[in-house]
Amino acid sequence: MDRIVIEGGAPLRGEVAVSGAKNAALPALAAALLAEGEHSVRNVPDLADVRTMGRLLGHMGCAFERTGGHAVALRVPAAPRPEAPYELVRTMRASVVVLGPLVARLGRAQVSLPGGCAIGARPIDQHLKGLAALGAEIELRHGYVEARAPGGRLRGATFTFDGVTVTGTENVMMAAALAEGTSVLGNCAREPEVVDLAQALRSMGARIQGEGTDEIRIEGVERLRPLDHAVIPDRIEAGTLLVAGALPGNDVTVRGCAPEHLEALVEKLRQVGAEVRSVPGGLRVVGDGRPRPADVRTAPFPGFPTDMQAQMMVLLTVAQGSSVVTETVFENRYMHVLELRRLGADIAVDGRTALVKGVPELSGAPVMASDLRASAALVLAGLLARGTTEVQRVYHLDRGYERLEERLAPLGARIRRVKA
Ligand code: EPZ
Repeated sequence: MDRIVIEGGAPLRGEVAVSGAKNAALPALAAALLAEGEHSVRNVPDLADVRTMGRLLGHMGCAFERTGGHAVALRVPAAPRPEAPYELVRTMRASVVVLGPLVARLGRAQVSLPGGCAIGARPIDQHLKGLAALGAEIELRHGYVEARAPGGRLRGATFTFDGVTVTGTENVMMAAALAEGTSVLGNCAREPEVVDLAQALRSMGARIQGEGTDEIRIEGVERLRPLDHAVIPDRIEAGTLLVAGALPGNDVTVRGCAPEHLEALVEKLRQVGAEVRSVPGGLRVVGDGRPRPADVRTAPFPGFPTDMQAQMMVLLTVAQGSSVVTETVFENRYMHVLELRRLGADIAVDGRTALVKGVPELSGAPVMASDLRASAALVLAGLLARGTTEVQRVYHLDRGYERLEERLAPLGARIRRVKA
């Protein structure tokens, strides 16, 4: 297993470009199942999770090919095999977004239930409830969701999610795109990735309105055409790089990000004393001295993203005072805390709340990544800490960041990957 070794304390200066969004690319690729033919998706990051989605689509009989740069060509047959096996779903929960497209287009689907997860229970009851509202008959058997559309086609319906779910909204929106009649979905996720998926679906001829608000209206159509879509920039990768820029003594420009997707984070960075400025095509952040403390509460978009909680916490570990972090989206997303403590951070967790007492500095140590964003936080902590930090289990990082060490090194970071 690869490791990342960081000699902390080197100032970061310069520009770094952001990749396409993992969490927008995955549902867009799943959306291709809604139409037979040759699909084109651009700005698709080259990540382990995207490769898993490519394998999953391959298992269904689709041909997935990278055609240079970050473009993907996808050929979807007339009758894909409507099955997502456990071996693939267990390595990537987001595989569940194939369920809606499969049952909508083929009238049946068999998708493995995702297993446990490091950050919380993460049930998919809302995905299933939404699809059932569209008329799907759903059974759970041998660890699989078996869904059928009676008569071969789903029916439009009005459905309100009990809680805000990003991939749940995406799954049901994709299914409704091919259902007979109109669907009105309430309490929808407003995340930019949902908006991007609506745009992708529109390139296929879907009739959708209201994405980005909590009510999405979809007029089902009988047939869709292949996708022609470019994925939005990754706001979480951009956010991670912005936090790197906000660490004391750094000055980083993140190019190609969408500032309108980063407002909650930028506001927090300013609150802790970082200078964040819009520059042509991006954001520049300057971290000046030890940050001020700040309270952070995660929430669905436009709130502070749970996917940035661990990275922001790193900045707060060296603040001049105490901060309270509250995680409201997932029930167990503090796996990074134990590792940050090994670097000298003073953090106490009580349920969903973490009290972070700022210390003057962190000191490098070997640490272990537990999930994707926790790994990114450990890399940031390594940049900040005095001495050497070695991050193990880097495969978690590689699921969502394209060669992060190669993006940070040109900024001046002393960071390298040690191949297993
Ligand atoms: C998406 O996961 C993202 N993944 C996650 O990114 C992100 O952390 C999360 O949204 C929240 O923003 C993708 O887009 C592929 P949810 P998702 O359904 O859709 C509960 C990363 O690091 N819930 O919005 O699975 C759930 O348990 C990741 O890139 C139900 O109770 O998250 C959680 O507490 C990790 N029943 C809350 O809702 C359901 O049916 C929000 O989860 C569905 C969800």
